[in-house]
Amino acid sequence: MDDSQLYQHLQELRQEIHLHNYRYHVLDAPLISDYEFDRLMNELRQIEAKHPEWITADSPSQRAGGAPSERFVKIRHPVPILSLSNAFDAKDARAWYERIRRLDDRVEHANFVVEPKIDGLTVVLHYQDGVFVRGATRGDGIVGEDITTNLRTLRTLPLRIPVKPDGPKPPHTFVVRGEAFITVHDFEELNRKLVEAGEKAYLNPRNTAAGSLRQLDPNLTASRPLTMLNYAIVIADGPIPTTQWATLEYLQQLGFPVTDTARLCSTVDEAIASYDDFVAQRDQLPFESDGMVIKLNDLMLSEELGVVGKDPRGAVAFKFQAREVTTRMRDIGVNVGRTGVLTPYAILDPVEVGGVIVKQATLHNFDYIAEKDIRVGDRVMIKRAGDVIPYVIGPITEVRTGQETPYEPPKTCPVCRQPVEHLPGEVAWYCVNAACPAQLIRNLEHFVSRGAMDIDGLGIKIVEQLVAAGLVRDFADLYTLKKEDLLKLEGFAEKKADNLLAAIAQSHSMPLARVINALGIRGVGEVGAADLARRFRDLDELSRASVDELQTLEGVGPNIAKGIVDWFARPANRNLLQKLHSVGIWPVETSAERGEQGANLPLAGKTFVITGTLPGLSREQAKELIQEQGGKVTDSVSKNTDYLIVGENAGSKLEKARSLGVQTLDEAGLRQVIGEKAKQRP
Ligand code: IVH
Repeated sequence: MDDSQLYQHLQELRQEIHLHNYRYHVLDAPLISDYEFDRLMNELRQIEAKHPEWITADSPSQRAGGAPSERFVKIRHPVPILSLSNAFDAKDARAWYERIRRLDDRVEHANFVVEPKIDGLTVVLHYQDGVFVRGATRGDGIVGEDITTNLRTLRTLPLRIPVKPDGPKPPHTFVVRGEAFITVHDFEELNRKLVEAGEKAYLNPRNTAAGSLRQLDPNLTASRPLTMLNYAIVIADGPIPTTQWATLEYLQQLGFPVTDTARLCSTVDEAIASYDDFVAQRDQLPFESDGMVIKLNDLMLSEELGVVGKDPRGAVAFKFQAREVTTRMRDIGVNVGRTGVLTPYAILDPVEVGGVIVKQATLHNFDYIAEKDIRVGDRVMIKRAGDVIPYVIGPITEVRTGQETPYEPPKTCPVCRQPVEHLPGEVAWYCVNAACPAQLIRNLEHFVSRGAMDIDGLGIKIVEQLVAAGLVRDFADLYTLKKEDLLKLEGFAEKKADNLLAAIAQSHSMPLARVINALGIRGVGEVGAADLARRFRDLDELSRASVDELQTLEGVGPNIAKGIVDWFARPANRNLLQKLHSVGIWPVETSAERGEQGANLPLAGKTFVITGTLPGLSREQAKELIQEQGGKVTDSVSKNTDYLIVGENAGSKLEKARSLGVQTLDEAGLRQVIGEKAKQRP
């Protein structure tokens, strides 16, 4: 290939790359793989390396950066780059229409284009004979900053038009206006990566886009996911469309990205009414939008209507309600959720966001406060979007006075003052005190639930009543409830009280697995509890297990094992266990479920019922003795009962046992069975 052929090839290569850039970044419909694309780019770079004199400003190779400039050169715009007047409701929008209708009759029959108002940064793009030669910020509308090198890095910006060989040709001098921005998705991704790399996250897409475009180092701009949408022709020295609708179409044909959510409305009523649709669409738009723009479709008419200050009369921004505001954060409070999670929240100088006065906003978690370096006294950016709970985006560090104080997460639960815990690998801090009043209701709800103690008729309402009345401060208190206390509660009559007490009493005989589950140890659910009950004979044995020992169980990893050990180590929980023991919630796992060990116990498979008062043993002691030897104690006599242990004042159970032929034993007999059998133990 001689030089002239190579030069020809270079031109074709550039054209091809421009087309693929356009297909990929604007149409989202690539024709070739990234790999093939990279090959084309490589070839281009090689030729340009051999012939630096052939490098042109519009070459695709020039997208990625260039030498950082000391400061931006000012550019005088060819015509003023106008702003927009605002309408904040339909009344304002109609008033705008009435004003221009009075100025010109033609407005009466005009149609309108509505477009999303993109919350980004105005860019003014100059083309000379189809080549992107200069790009500027809006500045004050008269003079902007030359950010050409930075703009070249935007993959959606055509460096040369037409991008399609068969596309229309633009006028020689052609200046287009658009909005540069970062999509919500790209912004979140960018922040995620920054936080992962231990860097500070950005506040919002708009500021990040603006900051990125005004970088002195274009390589930095190139690394930010900037994109743009175009909506106006600023000047042209050739024929251009005379309506806004046709302008959008024309720009698109030339290869400029334009919005796909514009709407042509034949009346102003239709335009104003479309506001509701735009609001509804707001969260689905890929970019942040702060309103919709209503534009007269007839651009000549618009031009003739002129401007008021910097605002053209022919268009109006119908704004959405603000979602972000700034205010001062007075302090940080901490909530304890019903799962024990501690959640910090900002206490704010009250501020209006989207029609609502916000006094508090979530800070998500303590890591978030640290990552964003949010300090008490900071001016903070608040966001309230749709159904989302207001949250603090971050501090405005530029306005710090030095009076702000860094925040230290609490070491103890703000409600019960017990130490809080942090699991490795988890962001949240927990209060793990089962008796913490903040968690008590939720913990009780779990304790009485089906898979746990299964106390019928003890729903959340009653749990709340019992806690509110101070009758129940922990699980054990349920078992010392008195009928007269219940009768004082609203909605409780004899029957309801009796039923509840009977249901509670019934739960006395729950096996170990149920009780372990009922304790609500984090990470230990129904299945885990059953596994633990197979390994440990009672809560005492379980409480003495080490992390290592627990980890030998299937499904118990280091976090859960540590959670269990920590739970039993806490004084408040030890206290609770003692109380449970004293009210008789102390199952001893004896059934065949305990596998080898359980099956070998002397009373394995035997079922006992106790009636009347035994002379030398309390009910519970007798129960314990039987369970220790592998026997099971149930409440009522049936044909499955092996022994009825009979004390003084035995009731109907004795009669029933006799009628069923169930063997009866007194205390001495029980001791004998246990003693004799115990001796037979292998
Ligand atoms: S039209 C004469 N259309 O909003 C043309 N502006 O608050 C006036 N903006 O400075 C602008 N999306 O940066 C227009 N679809 C859109 C827009 C839009 C965003 C920005 C633009 C302008 C600001 C006015």
